[in-house]
Amino acid sequence: MNVYDSVRMNDCLAPMGYKASNTYEDADLVILNTCHIREKAEDKVYSELGRIRQEKIKKSAKGEQMLIAVGGCVGQAEGEEIIRRAPYVDIVLGPQSYHQLPEMVTRAIREKGGVVELDFPTVQKFDLLPESTTSQGVSAFLSIQEGCDKFCSFCVVPYTRGAEYSRKMDTVEQEARRMVDQGTMEITLLGQNVNAYHGDNTDGTTASLADLIDRLARINGLERIRYMTSHPKDMSDDLIAIHGSEPKLMPFLHLPVQSGSDTVLKRMNRKHEASFYIDIIERLRKVRPDIAFSSDFIVGFPGETDKEFDETMKMVEQVQYAQAYSFKYSPRPGTPAAMDDQQVPEELKDERLQRLQSLLRHQQTTYNASCIGMTMTVLLDRDGKFDGQLLGKTPYMQSLHVQDAENYRGKLVDVRIIGSTLNSVSAEIINPTVHHRKAS
Ligand code: 5AD
Ligand code: SF4
Repeated sequence: MNVYDSVRMNDCLAPMGYKASNTYEDADLVILNTCHIREKAEDKVYSELGRIRQEKIKKSAKGEQMLIAVGGCVGQAEGEEIIRRAPYVDIVLGPQSYHQLPEMVTRAIREKGGVVELDFPTVQKFDLLPESTTSQGVSAFLSIQEGCDKFCSFCVVPYTRGAEYSRKMDTVEQEARRMVDQGTMEITLLGQNVNAYHGDNTDGTTASLADLIDRLARINGLERIRYMTSHPKDMSDDLIAIHGSEPKLMPFLHLPVQSGSDTVLKRMNRKHEASFYIDIIERLRKVRPDIAFSSDFIVGFPGETDKEFDETMKMVEQVQYAQAYSFKYSPRPGTPAAMDDQQVPEELKDERLQRLQSLLRHQQTTYNASCIGMTMTVLLDRDGKFDGQLLGKTPYMQSLHVQDAENYRGKLVDVRIIGSTLNSVSAEIINPTVHHRKAS
């Protein structure tokens, strides 16, 4: 989401003459777009700010100005505190204030002292942002939903991103069409709770995520659709069904469960039991037998016993993930779980994380190896490290690399998987294979 937000900030500042730069020396303005989800992400902000400060000093020695802005959820959560700790920061803004950037930059140039904007405006920022003119390339993100009303007891998102909000179906479709006109072939629909999407439709009805996917799939030239991140409670029947019927919807789902223990899920306020999650996985596998799954797990949630942790390990064994993320529980200020006096000791969290990650690594390695010999259509969207090497993602979201592929940059091509490691698969191109983009 921050990648997408950064593109939109770029759109906002373009009319003032700003354009993206690859070096600090060239930058008149540096925006640090931040994440507050875990303590580690937050700590990085201050160390990175220290580095950017050195660049500001270098520029000022040459008589040049460099403004520093902190955006994103750390900006929202810490506000003025950032300027107290790092007085060389000129602008602090929350994720709902990006449309105010031009005005804030103008003020920061004119005035001394920091400019801070953290309001959740009544008018949604999407209605205030200019149309996006920055092409993200063949594979692109599109935000359709923001905020969250779930209030999982460990999570800051409902506080930093605010209440759940869905963009209108028409607006999303127009943005998708513009992206396709600029060359995008794959769109990943984004939202903190994307499958809770309920966008207004022009006929006064409310569209679900499945309705939106159905609408977008009709856009000629848009070849692949993905979405993240979802909550199990919002995996509605129509969304499960469309995984079986819409070929443009990729056979991969990131569906965080956090824990395999009913008692932990209850304390996390996840609003469902482990069996409910397993049932969704089974229903999805029924309609789309080759679908691959990913998840997020938290270990060492307050009060987590050995038995509860073992239930998570059992769930992982049962589901067999293609990939997954796992984290040690990190207390976040203002969340209910942070106030719990049953915090799990750090060494125990470390030990559990290692056990879980070793199982997940084993599953990922096995999954990647099971693909050797398969043929699949992949989108080669980036250059690799080596000459003639291109990188992309398989339909199942595996990282993929292909040698001698320079003619296929930005194209959908048929490949055969010939090798695998923990983190990627390698492939060879099968000729003749290019899927030409249909005109939109
Ligand atoms: N501690 C550890 N992990 C967390 N996540 C969210 N909040 C916390 C926290 N306080 C993880 C969840 C979520 C992912 C984006 O980050 O697993 O799905
Ligand atoms: Fe956070 Fe996701 Fe829970 Fe919302 S559903 S509170 S974003 S973990």
